[in-house]
Amino acid sequence: MTQAEIPATTRGLLPGDTQAVPVTLVTTGDWAVVESGLEPAQRSFAQAIGFTPKAGSLALLPGPDGSLARVLFGLGDPEAANYDRLLVGKLPGLLPEGIFRLENAAEPHEAALAWLMGSYRFGRYRSGGGTKARLAAPAGIDVAEVERIAAAVALGRDLVNTPANDLGPAEIEAAARALGDRHGATVTVTEGAALAEGYPLIHAVGAASPRAPRLIDLTWGPADAPRVTLVGKGVAFDTGGLDLKPSAAMLLMKKDMGGAAAALAAADMVMGAGLTLRLRLLIPAVENAVAGNAFRPGDVLPSRAGLSVEIGNTDAEGRLILADALALADADAPELILDFSTLTGAARVALGPDLPAFFTEDDALAEAVARAGRTAIDPVWRMPLHAPYASLLDSKVADLNNVSGGPFAGAITAALFLRRFAPNTRAHGHFDLYGWNPSTKPGRPEGGEVQTARLTYALLKARYGG
Ligand code: BES
Ligand code: MN
Ligand code: ZN
Repeated sequence: MTQAEIPATTRGLLPGDTQAVPVTLVTTGDWAVVESGLEPAQRSFAQAIGFTPKAGSLALLPGPDGSLARVLFGLGDPEAANYDRLLVGKLPGLLPEGIFRLENAAEPHEAALAWLMGSYRFGRYRSGGGTKARLAAPAGIDVAEVERIAAAVALGRDLVNTPANDLGPAEIEAAARALGDRHGATVTVTEGAALAEGYPLIHAVGAASPRAPRLIDLTWGPADAPRVTLVGKGVAFDTGGLDLKPSAAMLLMKKDMGGAAAALAAADMVMGAGLTLRLRLLIPAVENAVAGNAFRPGDVLPSRAGLSVEIGNTDAEGRLILADALALADADAPELILDFSTLTGAARVALGPDLPAFFTEDDALAEAVARAGRTAIDPVWRMPLHAPYASLLDSKVADLNNVSGGPFAGAITAALFLRRFAPNTRAHGHFDLYGWNPSTKPGRPEGGEVQTARLTYALLKARYGG
């Protein structure tokens, strides 16, 4: 890759003292003061083009020689209920090539992160589409931290955006190994006969693909530190299996490894920051494909946890592979288990694409997660693990069915299914996410998104950041 092709996010911030065009952030409250402080010619220019400080509005102000001398960017009313704390992330998509500095950001860390997140473009298959504006680091922020977070987000987005022909289970493994190498982690992988023997559900779901299923297990950090295990759904592509999805539902299913991408991104942030914990990252990586050896509706499968599972629907594959990974996670009694997955359409119906569902029995964890979501500008919404609905998963022939069969509470029954496989860990949080921005929003370009990764980092940093 040439310098020009390296994604702007990966290029990071420029030194704070770089010669740069000032960007003045203008709220509805302070516009009058800012306006009166402008040079007369620039004030006239701003008036002539009808600039107002409404959220996202832009004015490129010329200097005496006609060159770009100042930028005004409207923030609207920061107290408004729908104020977007990542609004500055809109700027890289608006500004011309050049170097800029944020003159008066009230939250310079958030602004710099939003800028870098908004500079991301998926550039694997064509060059030249990237943003050209660069940011000089605002004073007083931890530049390395912001760059680490943005780079981890970009890594995860790249994985989600990469289509399944170039990202199968082996490539997910390669990404985990590369991440592990970069941070001095240990990565082991279970596949083949050992997978079939120890992880029957992962094996069954992945069996029909020529690209073999596997369980990726990364560990990092001192053995005696508090143990935290992240589990990410790594379905490289979800056809639905024999319960084949219709084409519209299958179209975006390259993103069905969005949970794995979020977990990898969170792990990247945690290891890069050197938090004081023993991190374990488990990724069951499979392709849910169709072939003569595919698992079938009506099959009864054993699981690592010892529970037998009747397959009501092969398209409910995510909970199956997570079940075996959770059983492994649960066995060594970590302080905390968090799992991440693009698990149900029902969660999207309930909360839409931008708000992952979060489930836990642990109220203290729920509060900490909500707080971390606010800190990291990575919101989630808690949904109930309503125990009586567990009976919807009853089976007449096995310990449980993988689906409820009815139209009700699909995200909750999926969460309850997972709970059966990690019975010993009370501090278990489950994120059901979409993994995709359906349209561009500030700091969140259309395409793959690693929802809950920054939240997870904020949560773990608050606990283990020293
Ligand atoms: N990966 C899908 C869930 C999904 C679909 C997430 C669309 C985001 C967008 C999952 O494997 C799935 O197919 N779930 C089924 C479960 C059903 C068969 C009980 C679903 O939600 O329809
Ligand atoms: Mn599915
Ligand atoms: Zn799936």
